[in-house]
Amino acid sequence: MSSLMKQYKDLMAQFEKGQLVGLDIGLSAVKVAVLSKTKKTFKLDKFASIPLSEAAIIEDEVQKPEEIIHAISQAIHTAGIKKKIVNIGMDGPNTMTKRFQVPDGTKEEVEDNILWESEQYIPFGADDSEIDYHIIGDIPEDDVKDVLVAALRIDVAEKYMDYAKDAGLFTKVVDLNVLAITNLFEHVYEKDLDLYSDEGVIIIDFGAQTTTIIVYKNGAPVLTRELNVGGVLITEEIQRIMGVSYEEAEDLKTFGDENGNLPEEIVGIIDSQVAEQLAEIKKVLNFYIAAGSSEQIVNCLITGGGAKLPGMMEELADLIGGDVKIFNPFERIELGKNFSKEEIQKIATIGAVPIGLGLRLV
Ligand SMILES: Nc1ncnc2c1ncn2[C@@H]1O[C@H](COP(=O)(O)OP(=O)(O)OP(=O)(O)O)[C@@H](O)[C@H]1O
Ligand SMILES: [Mg+2]
Repeated sequence: MSSLMKQYKDLMAQFEKGQLVGLDIGLSAVKVAVLSKTKKTFKLDKFASIPLSEAAIIEDEVQKPEEIIHAISQAIHTAGIKKKIVNIGMDGPNTMTKRFQVPDGTKEEVEDNILWESEQYIPFGADDSEIDYHIIGDIPEDDVKDVLVAALRIDVAEKYMDYAKDAGLFTKVVDLNVLAITNLFEHVYEKDLDLYSDEGVIIIDFGAQTTTIIVYKNGAPVLTRELNVGGVLITEEIQRIMGVSYEEAEDLKTFGDENGNLPEEIVGIIDSQVAEQLAEIKKVLNFYIAAGSSEQIVNCLITGGGAKLPGMMEELADLIGGDVKIFNPFERIELGKNFSKEEIQKIATIGAVPIGLGLRLV
């Protein structure tokens, strides 16, 4: 394509209407989702997930940009997506969210206060960040506003936008994965939202490299945290102990042996890994799961590939002393045709972030 033609297409892409393409550049896969608005909810029209090699991204640093760009193109192509405008999700140390209160006042005063207050919470520096905030509500008795601030590092966001551009896409929004999950949660569980909001709910996304924890209460997250633990550690442990390749270990973990059974040895490895990861999670959640404390939260929703690990739900229920459910987007979101049963199951497990990103409008 001539560069003029390309510029023209980029420009036209900005006038597209409807939902943005949700683009999740995870550490282990690039995922895309396209939704459309229906009468009461949304419908998932397209979805694809393209795995990345182990070394494509290391500790949040992209090592192989060409691989990322190629995976984005491939995902868009595989899903059959015609749209060009995307909402990219970011997570990790180049992002932050913080909920706090500022004195009430004029719109300018409130904004000044929010930005000033935010500075101390942004580890990568406010000057290098894009800062966004959402006013959750007023607390009249204290004369304050309750706000949620989200920030991300501009240079890293620009890198991601460049990858999208090189894959022929135009980035309209760069979102945070935790907000994508939160938005999806609020939509899917709208009916029970008042209850969840009053009692609080712990949402955990068990990814390949990252475990994301969101504590949601009184209309917004009160805590978000990302831990560097996930499914890859378990696969590596199986690989090491059983002396098999990484792929074989991944297969054993996910599908069991040739009869579909998990060998006892594998169950043992998974059990001890799950216990270790839950111990990390416990440290983050201590304040919210201490039995009998006035802050105790007993509702929990889980998503991500690791949510399927044998024993995970039961162990987690023991840990929080409450109720653990699978966070399934399709309890509300409708499904387009063309998805097989297996695909639907898989997307329900690994799709929360890209689907949440795809809720955003152009
Ligand atoms: N049925 C299953 N049982 C156990 N583990 C599974 C299952 N299905 C997938 N996984 C694991 O879940 C992980 C992939 O989940 P997911 O797609 O949510 O992660 P990701 O979004 O790519 O990772 P990250 O968010 O860390 O970038 C892999 O480690 C995979 O081995
Ligand atoms: Mg993920």
